[in-house]
Amino acid sequence: MPTNWTTAEILKTPMEICWQFDYAIDKAKLKNLYEKSKQLQWDAEQDLDWSIAIDPSKPLVDEARNGVDQIPILQKLSKSQRETFTAHSTAHLLSQFLHGEQGALMTAAALTHAVPDYEGKLYAASQTMDEARHVEAYEKYIRKLAMVYPMAPWLRETIDITLKSDHWVKIAIGMNMIVEGLALAAFHNMRRATTCDLLRSLTELVLRDEARHVAFANLYVKDAIDEMHPDDREDKAQFAFEIVKRMSDSFGGADGRGAQLPDPGFFAVLETVEIEPEDFIQSAIEAGEAGLHADAPPGEIHSFKDLMMPGLVRVGAVTSRTRELYEAEGIPVWEDLSVLESMEESGSVETNVAEAN
Ligand SMILES: [Fe+2]
Ligand SMILES: [Fe+2]
Repeated sequence: MPTNWTTAEILKTPMEICWQFDYAIDKAKLKNLYEKSKQLQWDAEQDLDWSIAIDPSKPLVDEARNGVDQIPILQKLSKSQRETFTAHSTAHLLSQFLHGEQGALMTAAALTHAVPDYEGKLYAASQTMDEARHVEAYEKYIRKLAMVYPMAPWLRETIDITLKSDHWVKIAIGMNMIVEGLALAAFHNMRRATTCDLLRSLTELVLRDEARHVAFANLYVKDAIDEMHPDDREDKAQFAFEIVKRMSDSFGGADGRGAQLPDPGFFAVLETVEIEPEDFIQSAIEAGEAGLHADAPPGEIHSFKDLMMPGLVRVGAVTSRTRELYEAEGIPVWEDLSVLESMEESGSVETNVAEAN
């Protein structure tokens, strides 16, 4: 079959790529992550039970956990409308997982080209394989649902800015620390909320890989930033700030109370239950429900508070200059590392999360 150029989109990137002829292992922890990655490979085709039937008309997530009961305009829907809304909004979310995984596949490949260390290249190649498997698994699952939504503009822009950056540290910050921080929390929460055994098993396997991807950046970026000229460090810190701000804006500001950026895919979900986007946005603002609350329900992970911001501070990607920028935008610079550290120690996000919240 010829390439479908009508659905292909081309980006030009200024990334510097790097050969490394010193095959020395200087960073043992990175090599360990690569070893772990090799040992924990799985096969989406063989290791999941694809014979499990999915009834697309039934909600794939527990309604009480997906926020439907917190937004007044959704509370007014009939039971069957709520089920339709939940089915479509879950398909919309899973579609973001799918498209985001394709973005991660490309950023991981870019890291393989661009990182300066031999063991960094080995690790990044293993992440590239992980991401290929994630794209395969989510595509196969969504195909069973027979409902796929387009990529949300904010997610596409965030990943495009990351892919079009000029330095591997920016890729690691934009994807591994920020987008994957968000994904890790979303996967963790999806695994807890889903009523589908196949989706639970799939998410469980993906989560195990993602914890490694976040750990990689937290390990590697710190050394790189420590060795940078202060101007270069500010350049990376500015990049981190801009990505966090973009993401914060897309969720309605740091307190989640502002208007979210428009997402035509989500508007299409609203259309299935005949809700006008403006009415939904107003209702969501009134409920203060926009996904970026400082207080997640017990046992859930809050991506900004628990993963992204503490990680960015720890690797040195928040400088005193950018700290003022975050403050001016009302984005708290959370520094509590307990959830991130428990994830790193256990290799998963599950252990101690409930206690840490
Ligand atoms: Fe992934
Ligand atoms: Fe990943």
